[in-house]
Amino acid sequence: MLVIHYSQTGQLSAVIEQIVAPLAADARISVHIETLKPLPGYPFPWPYFRFFDAFPESAHMVPPALAPLSLSGDEHFDLVILPYQVWFLAPSLPITAFLKHPVGRKLLAGKPVVTVIACRNMWMLAQEKLKALLADAGARLIDNVVLTDPGPTLATFITTPRWLLTGRKAGFWGMPDAGVSPAQIRGTRRFGLALRDALHQGLEQQPGPLLNGLGAVQVEPHLYLSEKAGTRGFYLWGALLRAAGGPGSPQRVPLLAFYSAFLVVAIVTIVPASLALQALLRPFLRGWLHRIKQQFELPSGSGTDRLASYE
Ligand SMILES: Cc1cc2nc3c(=O)[nH]c(=O)nc-3n(C[C@H](O)[C@H](O)[C@H](O)COP(=O)(O)O)c2cc1C
Repeated sequence: MLVIHYSQTGQLSAVIEQIVAPLAADARISVHIETLKPLPGYPFPWPYFRFFDAFPESAHMVPPALAPLSLSGDEHFDLVILPYQVWFLAPSLPITAFLKHPVGRKLLAGKPVVTVIACRNMWMLAQEKLKALLADAGARLIDNVVLTDPGPTLATFITTPRWLLTGRKAGFWGMPDAGVSPAQIRGTRRFGLALRDALHQGLEQQPGPLLNGLGAVQVEPHLYLSEKAGTRGFYLWGALLRAAGGPGSPQRVPLLAFYSAFLVVAIVTIVPASLALQALLRPFLRGWLHRIKQQFELPSGSGTDRLASYE
């Protein structure tokens, strides 16, 4: 089994550790963990402009170079676990780099893939982009596990950037800690146990899912419109910034100064306005929101009927 690994703060590393532990402990399963090293590396904590400078390439999925992988692409794996974080409503750039890398594409071709997302709480359109990259590489998505920050959306718009820009994770002024909770992370062990059992039975060769009934994902459909608006803005402004210069070029700084200020205003106006409007229109939107929820909870679903066997 192949596990792809990249994490800045260690949050996704901790998730991977929980999922992999029961698989690695099993003598019948061999696990290869491939750690991605983008060149140049991304800093943590992020300097302000460096952080926003990552959005044009994230939105346009223009990846950085990767340090040579330890695999050639000719190896065979029965299953690939692809954990990733979301950057600017798209898969993080190191993961995009892997998905577009000739060796990465070869490793993924024809393979069943389990994606595992740990992010603030906006991941739906990133998963759509990731699905397109997987399809392009000829891989087969069989499961998707999602962990999101348990704090209220508006609080996370403060706690997450504070964490990423200063390294401080602890809550302040009554706000929750940034990031996914330690209990959520510990709980992901159940997915490793279920994958172990499924591999013993060769179920990964079937269409899947393998992780249904385990509370793999909970979609918040009312965030969809904000994601749509944000994705469009990132794409258009990203094109403008990319025309001004490449990553890190000084010509981008004035545009980034303007856009980052605009973004703060947009987040404190558009997101609450969109949420409030949807609350008002809820009776009329119910069917549509339900469809979004069902669509984005595929393939693993939000059911919990198998939880008791894996707790
Ligand atoms: C540049 C950047 C952009 C991000 N954009 C989003 C986003 O659009 N949506 C979201 O839910 N989380 C976003 N996050 C949070 C990450 O998905 C992730 O939770 C956090 O960076 C910790 O991941 P790691 O330590 O495992 O790398 C962003 C993080 C970074 C660094």
